[in-house]
Amino acid sequence: MVRSDSAVSGPGGRRYYGEVTVGEPRLSEDGRLEVGGEDNADEGVGKPGPTGRPMPAFPVPAALTSHGPAWVVAMCNQKGGVGKTTSTINLGAALAEYGRRVLLVDFDPQGALSVGLGINPMQFDVTVHDLLLGGDADIQDTIVETQVEGLDLLPSNIDLSAAEVLLVSEVGREHSLARTLAPVMDGYDVVLIDCQPSLGLLTVNALTAADAVMVPLECEYFALRGVALLLQTIDKVRERLNSRLELAGILATMYDARTLHAREVLARVVERFPDEVFHTVINRTVRFPETTVAGEPITTYAPTSVGAAGYRRLARELMARYATPPAVG
Ligand SMILES: Nc1ncnc2c1ncn2[C@@H]1O[C@H](COP(=O)(O)OP(=O)(O)OP(=O)(O)O)[C@@H](O)[C@H]1O
Ligand SMILES: [Mg+2]
Repeated sequence: MVRSDSAVSGPGGRRYYGEVTVGEPRLSEDGRLEVGGEDNADEGVGKPGPTGRPMPAFPVPAALTSHGPAWVVAMCNQKGGVGKTTSTINLGAALAEYGRRVLLVDFDPQGALSVGLGINPMQFDVTVHDLLLGGDADIQDTIVETQVEGLDLLPSNIDLSAAEVLLVSEVGREHSLARTLAPVMDGYDVVLIDCQPSLGLLTVNALTAADAVMVPLECEYFALRGVALLLQTIDKVRERLNSRLELAGILATMYDARTLHAREVLARVVERFPDEVFHTVINRTVRFPETTVAGEPITTYAPTSVGAAGYRRLARELMARYATPPAVG
């Protein structure tokens, strides 16, 4: 494993600013997660949340004593600009804060995931592209550490756009990413794959490698447009390529509770998918575009912000849904 020079940050690899908001889990100076008061992690529990349903308690998950095998989640929506990359980075960083070992896979030739983590994807000679095409490249040597402890990145760059074409003639072309990831699955608890906005062969590879798919949806007009096609694609992959694939959930992003429009859109999404929409909703805030410029997750850039709290809650909701760890005492 190599560390990218451009990803190195302050002491301990972590930076925190300002006061920690009461009621949120926080990290002590030596990097432990502190939980604080009684109802800390569960503000608003029992009251109607933004989805209109009562907000359940999502406990801080227990610390792990060993790691792996990884649970793989594809972050997928063929609609562009809905928060796939932002959610991959920040959910990954939140899971890492909770002690999970997380691998983020940049599966978009734009390389936005790498850039959002302060890593220039053009500096790498070997990327996901080379691994997919099955040369001599070793995935262990291709993975880079990020400035967040426990959060690693498998980078991509524009080379990946050629892979989609080259893969077409390969035997087992839909399984290339699953094969690529297999050697490192035991070293991680969660793998998040940031898909490109398309339902092409790369996205089918991501769905074939995944245990679950998370669908970020922007709370805007036409949010639901294309979701039926996406769900059909997921069904087809489940039937033909990957029987274990399930829908982890639909994540409402860029939600502005002050506007009637956003509230109406969210209500329509919940009406259509009453069981699939996460209780956690990610608010619209300028802090997210700022984090891209800063090249770090919101959990370190603005750890006390509403946005950071949102992704921490999402991490706890996911873990509460998919595991049954006892809460940290
Ligand atoms: N909750 C939010 N509030 C405000 N801006 C946001 C939020 N989430 C994401 N953004 C911004 O919206 C833009 C699109 O987000 P992002 O890149 O995560 O979407 P995407 O689905 O990965 O896009 P693409 O389909 O191009 O890969 C970015 O500029 C990002 O900073
Ligand atoms: Mg993206």
